[in-house]
Amino acid sequence: MNRRDNMNRKDAHVHNAEMQYQTAATDFESVRFVHPSLSHQAFHHIDLSTTLFKQQFDRPFYINAMTGGSAWTKRINGMFAEVARECHLPMASGSVSAALKDASVTDSFTIIREVNPNGFVMANVGADKNLEDAKRAVDLLDADALQIHLNTAQEIVMPEGDRDFRKLEDHIVDIVENLDRPVMVKEVGFGMSYQTMHHLQSLGVNTIDVSGTGGTNFANIENARRENKEFSYMADWGQSTVISLLEAQPLMSQTTIVASGGIKNPLQMMKALALGASAVGMSGQFLHSVLSEGVDATIEMVKSYDEQLRLLMMVLDCQDLDELRNTDLMITGKPAEWSRLRRIN
Ligand code: FNR
Repeated sequence: MNRRDNMNRKDAHVHNAEMQYQTAATDFESVRFVHPSLSHQAFHHIDLSTTLFKQQFDRPFYINAMTGGSAWTKRINGMFAEVARECHLPMASGSVSAALKDASVTDSFTIIREVNPNGFVMANVGADKNLEDAKRAVDLLDADALQIHLNTAQEIVMPEGDRDFRKLEDHIVDIVENLDRPVMVKEVGFGMSYQTMHHLQSLGVNTIDVSGTGGTNFANIENARRENKEFSYMADWGQSTVISLLEAQPLMSQTTIVASGGIKNPLQMMKALALGASAVGMSGQFLHSVLSEGVDATIEMVKSYDEQLRLLMMVLDCQDLDELRNTDLMITGKPAEWSRLRRIN
């Protein structure tokens, strides 16, 4: 039995996610900006602010949901919270389910608030959790908002995964209607279709993170935990972040769409924002950075992202994110073919 067999599930997720960092192909290569040559912008006049949950944020990116539930992940959440505090970044916890079941791991989540008492924090639960659980998750972190994750593709590959999805929709409706915090429904890296997002919209969901393929891959992460690795054929399951954002286009006037999945640098962030995302969540990139470089270097990385985003806005002649959304894009390859063949109605 190796070290990984002994690991708790949350530690194995972190370990396996970090092992596969940088291995996935994204569709961002198929999205190109049309370079405009003449610009009218000045660095200090660039406005990167965005609105999420009817609240304004200075930067359009945040630390997306990851972890909690063990001693190791407590340390990791502490590091994320320090970065979030120093950089004024919103941050999501990992799924709080573990703490709802086992009070002894609560501190691996509450460390987020201890380290960052005034920051914008999102609690996270699966849609298998009901309103009562959602309230407990929010209370635990004194959270400003709640993320509900949809992870059916992960659950089916997970040996001990959920085998009954009949309650997911009822839980979402109940939580959206009755929780006194704004709610974001998110995928965990398999992307969303127009039909899924349209349906969520009809249930009253106002904010959706498409979280597509191209980055952390939970089919591979869970398959690696299976003795016989039967589900390697699921490695390519789902829609990329780029394709999910294309699917979301008809919904963007009414629903706030957020992008995550495989976003690791400012150019990819810019492409997601140009495709209409209101903000960008990053998990794998922040995990890799705190584990391999530490907190101080991650804070420097965020500052550098901020500078790079402003510089890229300058070369694209865009003063703010509204202008970026109207800039010229060339979409080729698989996403272009997908859009051509797909009937969205
Ligand atoms: C995740 N993700 C995740 N999502 C969620 O809603 N609840 C969770 O508990 C977790 N747990 C988790 C653990 C680890 C180690 C990672 C790396 C990720 C999924 C995450 O929020 C995001 O949707 C995907 O990881 C895709 O984004 P990246 O990693 O490609 O930037």
